[in-house]
Amino acid sequence: MPSFSVSVPGKTILFGEHAVVYGYPAIAVPLNSIKLNIKISARPTDSDIQIINKNRGENLLLKDLNPEHIYKTAIDTIQNALHVGKLPALQIGISSTIPIVSGLGSSAAFAVCLTKAISGFLGFKLNNEQINEIAYKIEIYQHGSPSGIDNTVISYNKPLYFKKGFPPSFLEIKSPITLIIADTGIHANTKETVADVKKNMQINPEMFKILLEEIGNLADYAKINLENGDLETLGKLMSENQSLLQKLGVSNDELDHLVDVALRYGALGAKLCGSGKGGNIVAIVENLNAESIKSALLKNGATNCFITKISVNCKEL
Ligand code: PMV
Repeated sequence: MPSFSVSVPGKTILFGEHAVVYGYPAIAVPLNSIKLNIKISARPTDSDIQIINKNRGENLLLKDLNPEHIYKTAIDTIQNALHVGKLPALQIGISSTIPIVSGLGSSAAFAVCLTKAISGFLGFKLNNEQINEIAYKIEIYQHGSPSGIDNTVISYNKPLYFKKGFPPSFLEIKSPITLIIADTGIHANTKETVADVKKNMQINPEMFKILLEEIGNLADYAKINLENGDLETLGKLMSENQSLLQKLGVSNDELDHLVDVALRYGALGAKLCGSGKGGNIVAIVENLNAESIKSALLKNGATNCFITKISVNCKEL
């Protein structure tokens, strides 16, 4: 059997993280300049599945993994969803340029990519909806109760307006938008931060409900402005979203500092992206300023930083 190779993008949430877990709308875009790749080939002389992850220096056999290991739960989930009794002996090679635990969708990218790779290798022709459904089940093992925004934007690879429990809606972005993504270098633990928000919400439900509602309203307003191509307004909305995330308690000094640097050097707006308490910020910038903002971020604490463009026809440039 020949080998089968699949790549999927990372993602960033432009508006609405955390509120999206509680049913409010959010907006995410795929990031095609960072990718996760999986290559599958048969192991004719062996009987077990072998997983090689170059980034983590792993060379593992499925039979040696404990039942909770993410590779095991992911492969079992795909096997059950495809109704295949037992998978043949495969070699699964994973490589990625998406930083892990940084709010850029590495775990969802793994779930989507593995689903595409195994199903494709076995000859299944799943559509994006079917891929997304399986990837969401894998995400549940990793995150507990994810909203589903990450696996959806990565499965479809299109700018997404998302509300939990509703079919995905895709955005026609009028003007190309230039984004800068900058890393605090601190790992962001989504499961823990989502649980912290839930705990704090039980202490002060009225205040948290108002904050989440306001975040949802910003996402709705941002959708209109993305479609109209009003980048200045989008920038302002992004910065408003950041103040609400601060009030939710999911920002930290390092994220606030990078947001501040981006704004000081001319970004139209900036906020943390993903679960927060670490990970990355995203800033909307004018093309002309992009390089100077990027170098300011790198000089002022960002451990990594890249410029990316989301284009009119829904593809990243
Ligand atoms: O940190 P990430 O990239 O896994 O994004 C999490 C987004 C949250 O809204 C905080 C959680 C979710 O399930 O949507």
